[in-house]
Amino acid sequence: MNSTTRKFIFHDLQTIEGYIDPPDALVFLSLLQSQNSKSLAGGIAEIGVFYGRSYYLFRKICGPEQKVVAIDLFDLGQTDDGASPQYGRFLDSGRRLGLAVDEELVIKGDSTRLSADEIRAKAGEIRFFSIDGGHMLPHVVADSQLAKDCLAPHGVIAFDDTFNPAWPEVTVGVADFLRENGSEFSAFCMTKYKTYVCRRDHHQLYYDVIAKAPDLTAFDHVETEFLGSKVARLHNPISRRMVYELMIRSGMSAFSERVYR
Ligand SMILES: C[S@@+](CC[C@H](N)C(=O)[O-])C[C@H]1O[C@@H](n2cnc3c(N)ncnc32)[C@H](O)[C@@H]1O
Repeated sequence: MNSTTRKFIFHDLQTIEGYIDPPDALVFLSLLQSQNSKSLAGGIAEIGVFYGRSYYLFRKICGPEQKVVAIDLFDLGQTDDGASPQYGRFLDSGRRLGLAVDEELVIKGDSTRLSADEIRAKAGEIRFFSIDGGHMLPHVVADSQLAKDCLAPHGVIAFDDTFNPAWPEVTVGVADFLRENGSEFSAFCMTKYKTYVCRRDHHQLYYDVIAKAPDLTAFDHVETEFLGSKVARLHNPISRRMVYELMIRSGMSAFSERVYR
């Protein structure tokens, strides 16, 4: 197991407001480290940075040389003079964690208006693309097309909030993407919140990475069929989630990592 990165996930990352849950952070870690070990190179891109919780995880796992493109409207709480507290807080967290943001790789604006060339110009072909921006169907349609167009042959797309009843159009958008591109793409892993997709010719490789990852042994691996492919569904029982939440709320985040061993 990766003790330094696990400490970062279970302690430092919790100091940033955001949405990535430990199971998905451990999936990100397992996939990125397997790409590193197999020399499957490329940039990283995220649509929907918010305050940077997933972004700083990418930065921590992949080190200072890795190009991570950060795309967001960055308009939360924006005032009439255009100042955005969201962007300021995002940068502050980087300084605090010793992971300063390369602002050349930040794209402030609507992801649905971006072209794959703009992303490739910043980071080359993308090996890991996280989609967590707008949650309505037109956003998911545009963002998944964008990810597809700049993805490296061995690239992975992580779709957030799939199967979340609060965001039904994300589920429709991801299913549409897989059905329209089913000869090329398939899902290989699902968690409570995210669905992970790659090209079919890399499906077995990533399926096996998830099956064998030392950081994912805490979860039940349930083989599930989804639109013509075998998916490793990582089940995280409610009892574990409750213990974890109680530890976080009672200020024991430093020990919460043990719940996920
Ligand atoms: C759920 S939050 C992302 C959470 C984040 N990934 C994390 O790790 O905490 C969604 C973000 O998407 C951004 N967003 C919404 N619509 C967008 C769009 N059309 N283009 C770019 N960003 C968008 C919002 O500003 C917000 O910061």
